Amino acid sequence: MAFSFIEQKLAQQREHALYRSTKCVESQNAREVSIAGKTYLNFSSNDYLGLNNHPEINKAMQEGADRFGTCASASSLITGYHYAHQSLENDICTWLNKPKCLLFSSGFAANQGVLDALGEPNTNYWLDKLSHASLIDGALASKARTKRFLHNDMQQLDTFLSSSPEKDNVIISEGVFSMDGDQANLSSISQLAKKHKALTYIDDAHSIGVKGKFGEGSLSQAPIDMVMATFGKALATSGAFVVCNEDIYEYLVNFSRHYIYSTAISPAVAWATKASIKLAQQEQWRRDKISELSYLLSTTLNNDIELIKTESSIHAIVLGSASKTLNTSEKLKENGIWVTAIRPPTVAKNSSRLRVTITASHNANDIKYLASNINKAFLNGK
Ligand SMILES: Cc1ncc(COP(=O)(O)O)c(C=O)c1O
Repeated sequence: MAFSFIEQKLAQQREHALYRSTKCVESQNAREVSIAGKTYLNFSSNDYLGLNNHPEINKAMQEGADRFGTCASASSLITGYHYAHQSLENDICTWLNKPKCLLFSSGFAANQGVLDALGEPNTNYWLDKLSHASLIDGALASKARTKRFLHNDMQQLDTFLSSSPEKDNVIISEGVFSMDGDQANLSSISQLAKKHKALTYIDDAHSIGVKGKFGEGSLSQAPIDMVMATFGKALATSGAFVVCNEDIYEYLVNFSRHYIYSTAISPAVAWATKASIKLAQQEQWRRDKISELSYLLSTTLNNDIELIKTESSIHAIVLGSASKTLNTSEKLKENGIWVTAIRPPTVAKNSSRLRVTITASHNANDIKYLASNINKAFLNGK
């Protein structure tokens, strides 16, 4: 039968507790989510700073729609590049102290668009093993040679870089890793880049807004040549940006297919993002709250529950088997807590996990309730 793989592969997903489906969210904020008539404490939101639905951002969205329209109505190089986009790019350049910025329709598109454009036959891409799917796919789909180094293994990265000094080497990593919550060793990466004359490309999806005194992410820790970040997480809108130097900017504008052949992001969204960046810069209390509540979680979970060490919003509790993780997530749901079970292929086989995200909208009681329920689920699971 034609396309028999569809049925076969879906059956396999069910058999291995890997089947995925969408759940329609009736309402949500960074603290609570309502699904199928029930409201849960939400520990699966990427709205780290709790900015979604902020009145100033909503007001800016409305103002942006009134001034520029909801749609760019063309790609950036045709007639889709509005004042709202230019103004947002300027704000980002000032915030991150980088010469140039360009906008993409999503973080996935940005990673694909940059890596496809820079991936020439003479390019070597060296990726951290835990890099996001969009980085891996972007690198593999390009003409570059792609190889992954062991997670945060700077010695192996050094060895790899030493192996082809004649090539155009690019080091690629996430700033904060999406499924583990730990951080790249950015100062070593930047030193290795200097030593081997390589470029650095950091995906700051989970660092922007959350790390740095003004929420400036990985650039607060080390000099990086190119940083990509999505607006869809801490900045609570959608789309993405890449910051870089002038040459790379000109090159991407001319050769990045995702940039050239895609409708520019909504100018209303761009205008709203200016408001969310302003809040992310100014409201340090949101970052402090994430740190305080993260510390509370680490001290209220039983000692035998292993949390991957983190200084971000992301707290991973690795359980191993997909079915055990799914069962634990279901048990938590019965008690009004939403923590999604993360399973392969998002993470490696036998490393399924609960991925708990703590946001600035949670409070101490939420964390204590979560911890006591995880403690109970673990005791009962033994
Ligand atoms: C590390 C990382 N990079 C890129 C993306 C993609 O960003 P976007 O959602 O804007 O496509 C995500 C998740 O969404 C991510 O976690």
